[in-house]
Amino acid sequence: MAKKTVLVVGGAGFVGSHVNKMLNQADYNTIVLDNLSTGSRQAVTRGKFIEGDMANTELLNEIFTTHSIDAVMHFAAFIDVGESVTNPLKYYQNNVVNTLNLLEAMLRYDVKTFIFSSSAAIFGIPQEKTIRENHPSHPISPYGASKLMVERILRDFDKAYNMKSSCLRYFNAAGGDPEGEIKSYKQKETNLIPIVLRSLRNGTTPITINGSDYPTPDGTCIRDYIHICDLGGAHILAMEQLFNGHPSTQYNLGNGEGFSVQEVIQAVRKVTGIPPKTTVGPRRPGDAPTLLANSEKAHKELHWTPKYPKLETMIQHAWHAFP
Ligand SMILES: NC(=O)c1ccc[n+]([C@@H]2O[C@H](COP(=O)([O-])OP(=O)(O)OC[C@H]3O[C@@H](n4cnc5c(N)ncnc54)[C@H](O)[C@@H]3O)[C@@H](O)[C@H]2O)c1
Repeated sequence: MAKKTVLVVGGAGFVGSHVNKMLNQADYNTIVLDNLSTGSRQAVTRGKFIEGDMANTELLNEIFTTHSIDAVMHFAAFIDVGESVTNPLKYYQNNVVNTLNLLEAMLRYDVKTFIFSSSAAIFGIPQEKTIRENHPSHPISPYGASKLMVERILRDFDKAYNMKSSCLRYFNAAGGDPEGEIKSYKQKETNLIPIVLRSLRNGTTPITINGSDYPTPDGTCIRDYIHICDLGGAHILAMEQLFNGHPSTQYNLGNGEGFSVQEVIQAVRKVTGIPPKTTVGPRRPGDAPTLLANSEKAHKELHWTPKYPKLETMIQHAWHAFP
């Protein structure tokens, strides 16, 4: 059977670059489209790379006419929750309007399999201890709202145009390439673990804990960390499930175990042997106190089992990825 080709939009970023590598290892052809606004060319270690913006209709037309694309995986977005509160225009423009441009191009070329990087941020403040797929969605940041809008668009596109999609709501993506091939290239980190690790590499600048008065045991936010390679595995399974005729769906992806900011800092100390310097700042707008996934649906329907569920393994892989 001929190899299938996947267009990986945003594949030069943190999650997309690892999934791109895994797709190639799983014998798919890939084409990575990325404007390098936050991603890095070096992170694209396999497949064909095209530098460009998903807002560029002409470029999309060229890509879809010169390649026979079987599916699109969509990672491209702005992802800084705090910044989305102060600059919502930037977030709705890129995460929603530009995504619509991509979806429109897919319709034009009759490509109807779409895997979307959604987020736990669509849920807002949890009403239950762990969050299932059908938990009410009341996002508290424009970032979360932008992701929910795309999910809504995808539901309507399925009904109207028969476009099949899988929305993968990641909790906190973490870790690094276990084989050490892809490094951490971000100019500006937005996720806790790399922020702490970068502060160790840079020496003296303390990291700011955003709020220590949350209703959690130590007052800091609790998050559910999931290794990027486990996310990668879920992407491939979700895509294959759609290839096999499964209806459009959504999956919450996490390990179901929460770690507070303080606990993550202690785990970094244990893994690296270096005590991170910290200072406490005010809460960051748009942050929920606790976010924990219930991923039973993905376990059951995708037969998805995380390979690297331990926080310390994720920190170790991330630490080795720091150049
Ligand atoms: N990192 C997490 O913890 C997390 C959690 C939940 C959801 N997500 C989602 O996963 C996806 C990937 O996140 P990430 O952490 O890898 O972020 P990232 O910033 O590392 O990757 C995003 C990539 O998209 C590219 N990009 C942005 N806008 C583009 C555009 N208009 N055209 C072409 N390329 C564009 C960037 O250059 C970058 O390479 C995002 O959609 C994000 O919302 C991430």
